[in-house]
Amino acid sequence: MSTDSARIDSYLFEPVKLGPLQLPNRIVMAPLTRSRAKEGDVPGELAIEYYAQRASAGLIIAEATQISPQGKGYVFTPGIYNDAQVQAWKRITDAVHEKGGRIFLQLWHVGRISHPSLQPGNALPVAPSAIKPEGQAYTDEGFVPLVTPRALETSEMAGIVEQYRVAAQNAKAAGFDGVEIHAANGYLLDQFLRDKTNRRTDQYGGSIENRARLLLEVADAVTSVWGSDRVGVRISPLSSFGDIADSNPEPLFTYVVQQLSARKLVYLHVIEGDTGGPRDVPGGFDLQVLREAFDGLFMANNGYDMELAQRTLKAKRADLIAFGRPFISNPDLVARLRSGAPLNEPDKDTMYGGGAEGYIDYPTMEQEAQR
Ligand code: PHB
Repeated sequence: MSTDSARIDSYLFEPVKLGPLQLPNRIVMAPLTRSRAKEGDVPGELAIEYYAQRASAGLIIAEATQISPQGKGYVFTPGIYNDAQVQAWKRITDAVHEKGGRIFLQLWHVGRISHPSLQPGNALPVAPSAIKPEGQAYTDEGFVPLVTPRALETSEMAGIVEQYRVAAQNAKAAGFDGVEIHAANGYLLDQFLRDKTNRRTDQYGGSIENRARLLLEVADAVTSVWGSDRVGVRISPLSSFGDIADSNPEPLFTYVVQQLSARKLVYLHVIEGDTGGPRDVPGGFDLQVLREAFDGLFMANNGYDMELAQRTLKAKRADLIAFGRPFISNPDLVARLRSGAPLNEPDKDTMYGGGAEGYIDYPTMEQEAQR
């Protein structure tokens, strides 16, 4: 093999510094809802093995995790708002660290994508404005229609920011290496950003500056706990996931990203196109303008394979590539990509809920060779 082709093939496997952390490669495990948490929103025992198996990732971003009981929108998702949850997460982070890995937690408040049956006191879910999303909630009784949420009072906003700050502190106590603020996919922070869901007339609605205010206050609260070099943010500027849209996403997200960059956040995680769907969507804009507006690391996500990932890194259109579904079915995804080995396909029926099957039983290449 010529040195040139060796070099061309090596992009994903070049180390990179992420704040104080040295990542051995540029392959990130994207946050993935697996719906296997236990009573009290405590992550299940099997999650220890699941995440430890994937510790060769440059970085693991653990699944979306509610910052408060109000932030919950699906059955069986974990939380990070009480001691039992912190203790359970600590066993997970310890196991990942023992295997030489690094793990962030994704901080999540679903806003209107919830249902009274999942809320404390069967209350209505909260949102920027009382606008009902299309779609269904996944509850104890199965799928039920989403409801019209309650618009948050201006006086409640500081309390929302405080939920994020406390959750960030809890994530630190649980031994994570940092946190990702979930501002994507039509959940609470995204609902504030976009004008389809935010019709407020106070300082949290109207202008781009006002709609971005909550996210930036959350970023300030979370970096007050962690320092900016251990905090990333995930956005999905062109996604309609969660029945969301904006009339003019380019200036909105350009402003948001400039403000996050000024706060020196360590990475910007961008879902390109529609979440889990097409990378090119009508009415889109070139997301590279966001890379140019951001001084930290740019993490790209959505439907990447080896070829597209290498091409993207080579063209310097990203610094890190986050893989979602391939990490479900390939615990040794890094080794497989490095050797060009075939990938296992994920089984849709065991993605959400259940036990070990489809969770910790996908084989490594060595295990396959022994069969
Ligand atoms: C989900 O639980 O289906 C889910 C969670 C977080 C996301 C997207 C989907 O960002």
